[in-house]
Amino acid sequence: MQYQETSDSEILLLLEAIYHEYGYDFREYSQGHIRRRIMNRMAVSKFEDISEMKSKVLNDKIFASALLQDLSITVTEMFRDPVFYKSLRENVIPILKTYPFIKIWHAGCATGEEAYSMAILLQEEGLYDRTTIYATDFNQMALNRAKDGIFSNKLIKGYTSNYQLTGGKESFSSYYTSDCDNFIMNYSLKKNIVWANHNLVTDSVFAEVNLILCRNVLIYFDKNLQNKVQNLFYDSLINGGVLCLGSQENLRFSDLYEQYIELDTKERIFKKKY
Ligand SMILES: C[S@@+](CC[C@H](N)C(=O)[O-])C[C@H]1O[C@@H](n2cnc3c(N)ncnc32)[C@H](O)[C@@H]1O
Repeated sequence: MQYQETSDSEILLLLEAIYHEYGYDFREYSQGHIRRRIMNRMAVSKFEDISEMKSKVLNDKIFASALLQDLSITVTEMFRDPVFYKSLRENVIPILKTYPFIKIWHAGCATGEEAYSMAILLQEEGLYDRTTIYATDFNQMALNRAKDGIFSNKLIKGYTSNYQLTGGKESFSSYYTSDCDNFIMNYSLKKNIVWANHNLVTDSVFAEVNLILCRNVLIYFDKNLQNKVQNLFYDSLINGGVLCLGSQENLRFSDLYEQYIELDTKERIFKKKY
């Protein structure tokens, strides 16, 4: 097999085909990420070359859907990067407390752990009842799991420890009920979360948002697409609104950097200037 010989232009042709047939646009994702995922799928499915794979994608919707799953990395956890959540409590919650109603957008929420973490934080700070959390992703399978809010018991230990490191005020077990295999998040955390399918590349802005979290998503985009999505966030935020990125993402290299103040440089928390 000649996977190493697959050229960037052949990969681009496959991405063009996916875009025209299914409307998912990966053409400006980071080339390294896309190449790794496509080569991996070619090996698993034992294709001779990329044109064989292209024809399979165009003629087999089930295969296409599996490939879309490959291209969307949904790794996440509750209170991922506890120090970031500590900073949210200290630097962002006081800002949110000044608003009568709060709109929060989790862009690229995967299976929902990030949105549930936020719901817990807001409940503890007495803000949940005046908040709507919009949790979006373009991966419908991940969104369905998010909406169910059912997670494996194997994850509880790590999530409890993350929660405690953020300065959590309760027992983490008060936020779910469990059976022998899984735990399910309380309805009181779910009731103000709106789960929606939204593609950051092709869909439009969310109006008048107070806080956006888009963590560990832009890392998969090339610089040009990162800039486009940063414009989407800028247009969605109210003046004084807050944008949170992942630990390996930054606004510094974006055209919009001057339009924000850094609230926490290390934790990548930025406030849109008035
Ligand atoms: C690694 S997960 C990050 C989850 C969570 N934000 C976190 O930090 O734990 C990346 C998510 O971004 C989503 N994603 C990738 N491209 C997207 C796009 N164009 N529009 C919306 N979501 C996208 C993927 O489906 C995946 O669920």
